Amino acid sequence: MILIKLGGSIITNKEKPLSARRKTIDNLAKSLKKIQEPIVIVHGGGSYGHYWSVKYDMHTKERKYDLRGVAIVKNSMIELNKIILDSFLKNKLNPYCLPPTDFMTGNKPITKKVKEIEKISKSGLIPVTFGDALWYGQNKTFILSGDKIMTHLAKILKPKLCIFALNEDGVYSDLKSKKLIHELKGERPSISENKMDVTGGMTRKIEEASKISKMGMNVFFVNGNKPERIVKAVKNRKFEGTVFRGK
Ligand code: IPE
Repeated sequence: MILIKLGGSIITNKEKPLSARRKTIDNLAKSLKKIQEPIVIVHGGGSYGHYWSVKYDMHTKERKYDLRGVAIVKNSMIELNKIILDSFLKNKLNPYCLPPTDFMTGNKPITKKVKEIEKISKSGLIPVTFGDALWYGQNKTFILSGDKIMTHLAKILKPKLCIFALNEDGVYSDLKSKKLIHELKGERPSISENKMDVTGGMTRKIEEASKISKMGMNVFFVNGNKPERIVKAVKNRKFEGTVFRGK
């Protein structure tokens, strides 16, 4: 099984609120069609979920956030999710929509439910989940990032490979020259922060990728604008991107 995160920066235009990059999503779907193994998809919020989370000052910490914000963030994620599902259907994939409420309780994954995701993906359906605003309990809510979902799912499902499709070639050792780091083994690169992002942008992705690789799985960061790189990563051919090598 392969676990793939479609980052918000690749499926939406982060500069423009509520704008999906439909052509890019279609191209990603076409490439995913070429993968001959069970896959599970997680997608981010980009200029949908993040846009509203910033507006309503909502974060990953469990708090009593504005209920209007919770409702609107959730609604915007459903809207973005629908665009992805429609694109998958159009490109002859069989997505199976799984909002995170289906397998999370508070901020914890429900193991039994997560294990079912594997069965669904092995049947040929493609489970599709996403970062979202979630109920925590005691009138508190929180933003669950798709990156965190990747870690929860990886821990329980132990996929053969985890892939993060980004709007960049991978992790750069230097942002100015865009010098690509090809391989990381446990060490954490220092990169500059992305401020607009409520769930922590690239820093969060690197953090979650490091956690997953420490559990023994390989994590690949690839450029989602060149979706054939995802297929190559799966087929283990001439990989272009950054690998977080599992032990
Ligand atoms: C964001 O998920 C979810 C919401 C803001 C509701 P992610 O944090 O995984 O989104 P991206 O991939 O960074 O945009």
